[in-house]
This record gives sequence, C-alpha cells and structure tokens, in this order.
Amino acid sequence: MKAATLIRDIPDFPQPGIMFKDITPVLADPVAFAEVIAALSEDIKRLRPDVIVGIESRGFLFGAPVAHELGVGFVPFRKAGKLPYKTVTQEYALEYGTATVEAHVDAIKPGQRVVIVDDVLATGGTAVAAGQLVEKLGGATVGFAFFIELAFLAGRSKLVGRDITTLLSY
Ligand code: PRP
Ligand code: MG
Repeated sequence: MKAATLIRDIPDFPQPGIMFKDITPVLADPVAFAEVIAALSEDIKRLRPDVIVGIESRGFLFGAPVAHELGVGFVPFRKAGKLPYKTVTQEYALEYGTATVEAHVDAIKPGQRVVIVDDVLATGGTAVAAGQLVEKLGGATVGFAFFIELAFLAGRSKLVGRDITTLLSY
C-alpha cells in the first residue's frame, strides 16, 4: 500500500535507541490516508461493531474516520483528567511508572460490540488496558485494529484469543 512508502523512520525518538515510526506523512497524503481508512474499515466490518473506540491521541486519527466510514458511533478513550463527565479509569504499567485510560461512564451501552482502534500495537499495554476499560463499561470487545504492528515487541502475545487486524508489520 502507498502508506507503507510514506512512513518515516526517526532514530532516537523519543529516547536514544528507539526507532520511531512517524505516520504524519501518511495523514498528509489524501490517497494514502484514504486507503488506510478503507482497509481498516473493510476488515473491521465483519466484526459488526456498534461502536469504535479510539485511544488518545493517535488512535483518534484512525478511529474516528473508521467509525464515520462504517456508520457507527465513536468513543474517545482519553488520558487522565481530560473528560468532563463522570469517568471510569483503567491503569496500566509502563516501563517506568503507570498510565491511565479514561472513558465516560455512559460511553458504551451494556452489550455493545466494540472494536478498539489505535495507530500502533507496540508492547500491547495500551490495548490491553483499553480492552479492560470496555469490559468495565459493560461492552464486549470484539476486536482490535491497528495501522501498524511492531512485531518485535510482541504486543500480540498479550492479546491471545482476540481478533486483531494490522495493516503493516515491522
Ligand atoms: C503510542 C501509540 C499507542 C501506544 C502503543 O501512544 O500511539 O497508543 O503507544 O504502545 P504499547 O502497545 O506499548 O502500549 P502514546 O502513549 O505514545 O501516545 P500518543 O498516541 O498520544 O502519541
Ligand atoms: Mg497512542
């Protein structure tokens, strides 16, 4: 896909030794961006989601257009302290310290079928926490979809038994 040719490798970002996959050139290219949204949507369709969840912040860039394409609602899972109404939170471990994903308490109706969308599957910690938050809200996580998978970080091993879509793998 055209998008694969546009992803830019940035060495030593955000820390020495990390090779960062910069997706901004994909977003800036209307053909590549459209092809990514179409491919994600096409694969997610078979899961018959009621709701797409996007994880702040880069998950919003892919999740919202996919929801629009599929004609279903979009729910933002945000970092701590950003949502105005009553929230439910899920903490997860980072290499050093913890992070939190947060959702409005009424963002997902009990039994709704949810697909979680993010730009990158790396260690899988973010995706696992998002799945746990969906379940706390009473939803059913029927799949995960990522533009990119960093296979060498083995995030997939944390999502065993889950339905996972990825378009590009490194
Ligand atoms: C990045 C990326 C994924 C997550 C993947 O987000 O966008 O959400 O890390 O990593 P993991 O699989 O190891 O959990 P980040 O928290 O850096 O923030 P951003 O989306 O706001 O840039
Ligand atoms: Mg992110």
